[in-house]
Amino acid sequence: MNHAQALQAVEQLMMETVESEVEVLRDASRHILAAGGKRMRPRMTLLAYEAVGGTDIEAVLPVAAAVELVHTATLVHDDINDHGLMRRGRQTINAIWGRTFALLTGDFLFTKVYTLMAPYGDLNIIFAEMTSQLVEGETLQAAAAKEGKLNRETYARIIAKKTASLFAGAAKLGAKLGNATPQQVEALYQYGFNLGLAFQIVDDILDLIADSQKLGKTAGIDLAQGKGFAAAVAAGNGNGAQTAVAVAEAQEQDPGAAFKRKLLQGNYIEEGWQQARQLAGLAKLQLTALPPSAARDELLRLAEAAVEREY
Ligand code: IPE
Ligand code: IPE
Ligand code: MG
Ligand code: MG
Repeated sequence: MNHAQALQAVEQLMMETVESEVEVLRDASRHILAAGGKRMRPRMTLLAYEAVGGTDIEAVLPVAAAVELVHTATLVHDDINDHGLMRRGRQTINAIWGRTFALLTGDFLFTKVYTLMAPYGDLNIIFAEMTSQLVEGETLQAAAAKEGKLNRETYARIIAKKTASLFAGAAKLGAKLGNATPQQVEALYQYGFNLGLAFQIVDDILDLIADSQKLGKTAGIDLAQGKGFAAAVAAGNGNGAQTAVAVAEAQEQDPGAAFKRKLLQGNYIEEGWQQARQLAGLAKLQLTALPPSAARDELLRLAEAAVEREY
């Protein structure tokens, strides 16, 4: 089974796993899964496994599927919190089925991790760590937005927890399953972590400058809600007072237009890209701990794609 076939098998496994006699759970789960997505995280698990010399790729499929289901669950919940109406080019679950069923579908996807991960013993500890960090990150973000207290430092903490933890865990899981050396496990963890930070910064910039059609999800909502890179930049290193001003501006008639103009005129967007590229560079550097292989090359391309957004 090659890499493309393995990814295909992960798709199939996810679809089978969300089978349920309760129609709405099955239909809503399939709706979001069949819409696709970049599949960055399961790719990373599979590639990390291959890159450290693992040969029985079928043994990794349930873990890769569990990683993607966790990610998908968080998107379903995130769209409730962020009032997102479009996701992966389709209407969100909350838009079609309403908030209650979206909440429950997210829960359903989360619980499927138990099923998939049951045979994997200690690897469940990695899952426990990354999923609790993820929830902490989303909660810190909601709290900072509510209090208007987002600043750069808090932003860095939030994205480390809500995004980088899952990327890092996805790569680490693959490495562990492939019997990597402790040094390789650490290198792949750091690869995922740095790449996750870069990925979220780019995502936040795109929320500001790209349109919903292109992204396949509701764009331009972070700033108006006091979230994301732009709101953090607005506050600088301060106590968030400026965030409140920016958010207030963003909630006026023309959402965020004045502030957006200011950001574009300043060096902030470019600064964000630079930071993201630098982090992707750090991720790539970690790969020198691995022997040359097609999988390692692909991990390198994945890091580049995260900041170029080709996937
Ligand atoms: C979106 O993740 C959430 C972030 C961490 C920015 P992706 O951009 O990987 O979403 P899909 O899976 O491709 O839809
Ligand atoms: C990512 O944050 C959500 C999680 C990591 C759980 P965003 O709010 O930026 O994700 P999108 O932009 O809605 O995909
Ligand atoms: Mg969101
Ligand atoms: Mg976003």
